[in-house]
Amino acid sequence: MAIPTSRTRENAEIHIDELLCTGCGRCVEVCKDFSLLLRGGHAAVSDTPIFGCIGCGHCMAICPEDAIAIHGRLLSPDDLLQLPPRHQAANFAQLFTLMQRRRSIREFTDQPIAPELVEKILFASQTAPMGLPPSDVNVLVLDSREKNRAFAGDYATYLQNMRWFVSSWFLAIMRPLWGKNNDAMFRNFVRPLFDTYIGYMKRGVNVINYDAPLAMYFYGSPFADPADPLVAATYSMLAAEALGLGTCMLGGIHPLIQNGRKARRLREKYQIKFPSREGLLVIFGYPAVTYQKGIRRTFASITRL
Ligand SMILES: Cc1cc2nc3c(=O)[nH]c(=O)nc-3n(C[C@H](O)[C@H](O)[C@H](O)COP(=O)(O)O)c2cc1C
Ligand code: SF4
Ligand code: SF4
Repeated sequence: MAIPTSRTRENAEIHIDELLCTGCGRCVEVCKDFSLLLRGGHAAVSDTPIFGCIGCGHCMAICPEDAIAIHGRLLSPDDLLQLPPRHQAANFAQLFTLMQRRRSIREFTDQPIAPELVEKILFASQTAPMGLPPSDVNVLVLDSREKNRAFAGDYATYLQNMRWFVSSWFLAIMRPLWGKNNDAMFRNFVRPLFDTYIGYMKRGVNVINYDAPLAMYFYGSPFADPADPLVAATYSMLAAEALGLGTCMLGGIHPLIQNGRKARRLREKYQIKFPSREGLLVIFGYPAVTYQKGIRRTFASITRL
């Protein structure tokens, strides 16, 4: 029984070199699939795993003897990397300062983002925890103001064609089905958003993606955990902040391009491979504004039991 993803439907294979294995048991401890056990003083493959090897690689990463190798689910020993030493990592004060200094930026200079920075952001955001391996997160990169403006223009045209979706008659039909909270959201947020996006675009003002010099759309697949692309998007944001860029997450696109023929055509035009339950667009650029102060933010609630 292998867990399916858009990239693989097979379990990975586990190879243990008994000559190298000292039987320390570390791989057994970290394998939460219970694919491994100790037998006769060596690690061995269990007959009663939960799913069968999911290819997370934890066993290979922790083995001090390089005695275990995983092949499959797009993983092999070639994917192992030497971890940088702990003292080179950002400490709490550094990370917190970076986080505190972040403001959502929607005003960018004309300076393009160098391709090396785009690669660094992608490279860093791939370190995010992304659910079941191999990750089912996809990224669409729009790396110029022109590309982002074209995308926003197409999106505004698409919304114009979908305007019936927020019309009074349609919302009246849907209210008993999706309840009064959704109804309130559609009337007071989604409908004005449609009209804002369409109306401003007609006047040449792009409040869809703000003509950003770079945008990345993180989305999943029908198999992905909805949280996966959101976690990766968050990492991309922090990486870009560390590179001196301004960033902003944009939630007004993903939910509206999932269903229907017109949405599929838009996705196809931009080579978006799947409809997916969650996704997020992040924009990046050199800030044209400077904030001297931040705003203290709070959670809706913190319950301590
Ligand atoms: C999931 C998500 C979706 C968002 N969508 C938009 C958006 O569509 N347009 C926009 O201008 N800002 C968007 N934002 C940015 C928020 O408005 C911003 O985070 C909030 O105003 C707080 O400001 P701060 O990020 O500077 O603290 C989004 C943020 C998140 C987390
Ligand atoms: S971590 Fe390596 S050496 Fe230790 S039991 Fe597992 S395979 Fe053997
Ligand atoms: S790759 Fe992950 S699931 Fe497979 S044996 Fe190693 S720790 Fe277990």
